[in-house]
Amino acid sequence: MQVRFSDTRPSGPHVLALPLAAGAPLDPRLPAIAADAARAARFEGEKGGVLELYLPEEGGARRTLIAGVGGNPDARAWEALGSALSSRLLTSGEEVLAVDLSGASADAAAGAHIALGAVLRGWRHDVYRTKLPEKSRPSLKEIVIVGAPAGAEQAWAPLDALAQGIGFTRELVSEPANILYPESFVERCLPMRELGVEISVLDEEAMRAAGMGALLGVAQGSARPARLLVLRWNGTDDSGDPPLAFVGKGVTFDTGGISLKPPAGMEDMKWDMGGAGAVAGAIRALAARRAKVHVVGVCGLVENMPDGKAQRPGDIVTTMSGQTVEVINTDAEGRLVLCDALTWVQRSYRPRTIIDLATLTGAMIVSLGHEHGGLFSNSDVLADQLLAAGKASGDALWRFPLSDAYDKLIESPIADMKNVGPRDAGSISAAQFLLRYIEGEVQWAHLDIAGMVWAAKPGTLWDKGATGFGVRLLDRFVADNFER
Ligand code: BES
Ligand code: MN
Ligand code: ZN
Repeated sequence: MQVRFSDTRPSGPHVLALPLAAGAPLDPRLPAIAADAARAARFEGEKGGVLELYLPEEGGARRTLIAGVGGNPDARAWEALGSALSSRLLTSGEEVLAVDLSGASADAAAGAHIALGAVLRGWRHDVYRTKLPEKSRPSLKEIVIVGAPAGAEQAWAPLDALAQGIGFTRELVSEPANILYPESFVERCLPMRELGVEISVLDEEAMRAAGMGALLGVAQGSARPARLLVLRWNGTDDSGDPPLAFVGKGVTFDTGGISLKPPAGMEDMKWDMGGAGAVAGAIRALAARRAKVHVVGVCGLVENMPDGKAQRPGDIVTTMSGQTVEVINTDAEGRLVLCDALTWVQRSYRPRTIIDLATLTGAMIVSLGHEHGGLFSNSDVLADQLLAAGKASGDALWRFPLSDAYDKLIESPIADMKNVGPRDAGSISAAQFLLRYIEGEVQWAHLDIAGMVWAAKPGTLWDKGATGFGVRLLDRFVADNFER
């Protein structure tokens, strides 16, 4: 969807939308019948509410939407308005939406947030729907923000970058595993070089040389070779190492391996690369808005398959850190991928701060459902920064504890640790496993986003399917804590 800012309404065909604050009078430019219609529909400008009218104009009728923003609208309310308009108009046959702010008391950012809400809610992955009837195809192509105060277009630029990053994450998450596998994930990221992102890739030989026995143990059952993808964005003039690292779980399909998952719902495991997808989308958003930060994103990309060559329960692998792991359950593969990616990024760049994102445990969904991602951290400062970024961005987080008592749950009688604890506190023992790979004074946070990557129902800023969770969170976290 194209976004444009203009002082005047478009001259060609378009739908007109007029925001209305709760309890405010209707735009005096509207005919009296609009007020009668609003009364009849009991429409009072409530947030997310839309009153649809067809008003006579130029010999025909123009579809005119009065869109509520509630009282004292903030950025989130303007996004909800953009979302309500785009979800209603997406397949309406209308191609151009003009949102006229000239009669509304909107600040410069309002128009930009309306556009963001419209673009994010209007995002769809239709590439495989070859027989979609014409009437079900998205028609809406352009949103024109009319009469916004000065500065609206400048406010849109970083949100445009954010929307591109979120869209990219959603695309990666939506693609099925026969299309998106470690090598093709890498390929989709390569165009980011045009934005100035430095990209390097470790193949299996390089990972073997580095000693990544845990990641490679997961990969060994798959015909698709694993990759470690490294995306570096430097928007500063520092030539040293990046102080900040993102690490993503990129299991492009998780069958469970020899500890095979049951068939029902297994197709969901195409989005077990949602952590890596968020890392890639966040780097893209930061690069697109030329954020003044030096950051590296590492994606551990593997496919977890059962096979004659697959690893077995009871196998012992040696991680890049030198620590050994007894693989009790091959379905607890995410931590085996992340531990080597974590060691690699620490040895390669010595970052002070690391945030990993992973669809790590089903237990996380039992705990928090689909409303918060789980946050685990060895630093109260970092945890508070992330909680604040979560609140501000809408990608909400909830903190869980870590302690030695939980750490004991993964002791092994034969190796340094096992890869699963008991069923109880399954998300926490997974985080304790990762903590064993954090070196020295590194501030680390682990985000278990298993419940947030995919939505069964549409939300305000997404249709059902891939949400892009994590991108806006990381973008906000960087803006608030790492940009100078
Ligand atoms: N990818 C899954 C976790 C998951 C499950 C994410 C459902 C999203 C939806 C992960 O690799 C996994 O299989 N975890 C196991 C861990 C268990 C074997 C300790 C789980 O949650 O059952
Ligand atoms: Mn698994
Ligand atoms: Zn998994």
